[in-house]
Amino acid sequence: MRLHRTLLPLSLILRASAQLLVLSDPTPPTMAQPNQQPLEALADSAPGPQSASSSILSDVLPSQKRINIFAGFTRDVASVLSRLESTSENTTLLAPLNTVLSSLPRKPWESPADYDKLGANAYSGSGGSERAAENLKRFTEAHVVCERPWEEGKKVKTLGGGEVWWESHGKDGGRRIMPGKVEVEGIVGKAGNGEVWMLRGVVDFRQ
Ligand SMILES: *[C@@H]1O[C@H](CO)[C@@H](O)[C@H](O)[C@H]1NC(C)=O
Repeated sequence: MRLHRTLLPLSLILRASAQLLVLSDPTPPTMAQPNQQPLEALADSAPGPQSASSSILSDVLPSQKRINIFAGFTRDVASVLSRLESTSENTTLLAPLNTVLSSLPRKPWESPADYDKLGANAYSGSGGSERAAENLKRFTEAHVVCERPWEEGKKVKTLGGGEVWWESHGKDGGRRIMPGKVEVEGIVGKAGNGEVWMLRGVVDFRQ
């Protein structure tokens, strides 16, 4: 039905191919990665290769293969890329797992409103790739939290202007991003200008 994606930006098409590669990765998604620290161990952990205070988020991000689809989005959205490269502002980046992004009912650059208004050709023809890019920007900016350190319960803005906070729950102190109750799988990267939190869902960017 929604097959008219031939005019999407090349990077998106390449991303879609990368997604297929990811899907064929035989590693079970639940298997812990060697460089992923449990939440408990995070607070006082000694600086490792991932946490040098001189490193920046945009450099730390590619080392996490389980979030490389989202990492690609951050490179495609100029406002996000410049935030992750900034050394004067800290950021907490909420990065959905590849498996989460691959199984979304709609791609992040697709919007139901566009389909309602324009039908199956919403992302083809003139304006189609601009619409896709704008949707991808909104999606990605909703995952960039303009705060770090980020205290539990503190309501903060995302780069997209939405408001989020987090709370701990369960006996092992798992975290979830509110208001959507999106589970945090772990904090998988630290840099001088921020942290990367890996998510088992996506932040609702239409709120
Ligand atoms: C950035 O994060 C580091 C580590 O948490 C902190 O020491 C520093 O004060 C933060 N800088 C800003 C501008 O918030």
